[in-house]
Amino acid sequence: MARNRISPACIVYVFVLFFLLATPWAHSKPSFRTYDSQVQKVLEKMTLEEKIGQMIQAEITGLKEFSDISTYYLGSVLSGGNGDPEEGNSLKAWTDLYDRVQKQAMQTRLKIPVLYGVDAVHGHNNVLGAVIFPHNIGLGCTGNPELVEEVARITAREVRATGIQWTFAPCVAVPRDERWGRTYEGFSENPELVSLLGAAAVRGFQGSDLRDPLSVLACAKHFVGDGGTQAGTGLNGRWDQGDTRLDEATLRRIHLLPYKAAIEAGVGSIMASYSGWNGVKCTANKYLLTTVLKNELGFEGFVISDYNAIAQIDPDFKTAVGIAVNAGIDMAMEPTEYRRFYEALKALVSEGVVPIERVNDAVSRILRVKFAMGLMDPNRPQTADRSLHRLVGSKEHRQVARQAVRESLVLLKNERQTLPLSKTMGRIHLAGKSADDIGNQCGGWTIDWQGGSGPITTGGTTLLGAIRNAVSKETQVTYTADGSGVAGADVAVVVVGETPYAEMMGDAEDLTLSEQDLAVIKKVKQAGVPTVVVLFSGRPLIINDGLELADAFIAAWLPGTEGQGIADVLFGDYKPIGKLSFSWPRSMDQIPINYGDKEYSPLFPFGFGLSF
Ligand code: BGC
Ligand code: BGC
Repeated sequence: MARNRISPACIVYVFVLFFLLATPWAHSKPSFRTYDSQVQKVLEKMTLEEKIGQMIQAEITGLKEFSDISTYYLGSVLSGGNGDPEEGNSLKAWTDLYDRVQKQAMQTRLKIPVLYGVDAVHGHNNVLGAVIFPHNIGLGCTGNPELVEEVARITAREVRATGIQWTFAPCVAVPRDERWGRTYEGFSENPELVSLLGAAAVRGFQGSDLRDPLSVLACAKHFVGDGGTQAGTGLNGRWDQGDTRLDEATLRRIHLLPYKAAIEAGVGSIMASYSGWNGVKCTANKYLLTTVLKNELGFEGFVISDYNAIAQIDPDFKTAVGIAVNAGIDMAMEPTEYRRFYEALKALVSEGVVPIERVNDAVSRILRVKFAMGLMDPNRPQTADRSLHRLVGSKEHRQVARQAVRESLVLLKNERQTLPLSKTMGRIHLAGKSADDIGNQCGGWTIDWQGGSGPITTGGTTLLGAIRNAVSKETQVTYTADGSGVAGADVAVVVVGETPYAEMMGDAEDLTLSEQDLAVIKKVKQAGVPTVVVLFSGRPLIINDGLELADAFIAAWLPGTEGQGIADVLFGDYKPIGKLSFSWPRSMDQIPINYGDKEYSPLFPFGFGLSF
């Protein structure tokens, strides 16, 4: 018997050999250039007008005529944060719209399918009933690339169920100043962590092969330095869309790094940032878009401009178009001004301002990706696969989101063993404005561009509902937003924090926990009830007084629809394992504060997180 056994050493040897042999294949992503001979054949057939159309992305709600999709040979359309179908926000309405778009594209001579893009940035978040995952800041605290890959894979499936084949995600910003209102869209202040998780998201979205009808095209954004803008240089003198003032070595070390990882992971599209670098808008920056991104990093996919960003380059639109395309923009996101772009670029080519070679390169890049996705295959149905509808918001998908929530929670304080809670307590009192508010739990980019408080989506569980589900039949669960009626409870769970916002609206000079929220914590604590605070926020807030009063404190970020994952940890079914992906400041005047700073004494350092 013994002689027939394989020795452990032998097993190890076989494994090592296997990995050595498998690694080169596993790591060599297929080059988009493999399709170039096919691309060339299509390109040769195309008129200038067809080429320019291919370079345009209009917004569905911005179309002057629906037939403009074929009249202008549009290569792409998007639904922005507010770009819902006219018929409403249901799965059916979205899928019908996708089919109509593709049908219109099939009216063109060359029948090139349209790429339809959406901001599926934490699930297919525009669609009612879709599962909503934690925003990236929460995923950053999981530090778990396998989980992030799975989250993206599921998002891809839910997106594909509506036919849509492209998401403007992942955001691989490295937010360095929490006052920026898009901080939560980034995984971390740490470029290595962003690179690790950004690449995982790309793999999840795109699958092992973009042809897989369950995968979507990813878009790493916003290239480059969106998270590094200087206070006072952005919109309304704030941060968003501002200017990143750094020397090149620092820009590369912090903000460029995640793009290398995304490109290695095979990302097919990259969005140029609204922001600038040392005074030049990225959309206009040939050095960054062409010299660095395409030539040096070897990016073979296409670069898209951000929403109306081209017009920001120059007061004269035509001049702006010339600068952007010559800088390296391949596709123009022109929600409403697509006709103007079309005429402008046509004129610029005939005047020789934009060389035809640049147009050919841009179109080739777009077509390469369309070939890689299998869209150019004449035998592919150009309609959505509605059999996938059953997956949207499904139990299996919600399970993964719930796991993501569990892993994203960061326990900042736990005194007198307040946590975990017992499921058989007499009474648990919930308080705070966000305890029963799925909208606050999800944050921005949920159903609406800016998100919204209240029951804005369907499916999922608020923390109040989740606690009710978790406890024994004998346990009473009570709730008042202001904390009244808490006296006599065995424990109080106070759920407070930010209300939803997204880009342009989220910048803030003061991140201090609101007086109203603090008052609820105070009230509960003064009633002599052990107090657990759960914070919903898109970034670290200044929480000193609240933290002091609380017996236990959890940073839950913007967890999404699966509030049950928070209850899982509160009751100790799962241990808290989340670690801060951002440094937690003590005071506003400490911001910006980042891991690696020379002077570094945050309230909680990067990587902090308790367990029990
Ligand atoms: C945002 C992008 C987004 C795009 C499309 C822009 O305003 O900056 O992140 O992908 O709109 O909605
Ligand atoms: C759109 C968003 C876009 C924003 C930028 C909104 O109306 O819905 O997608 O990012 O405008 O200006």
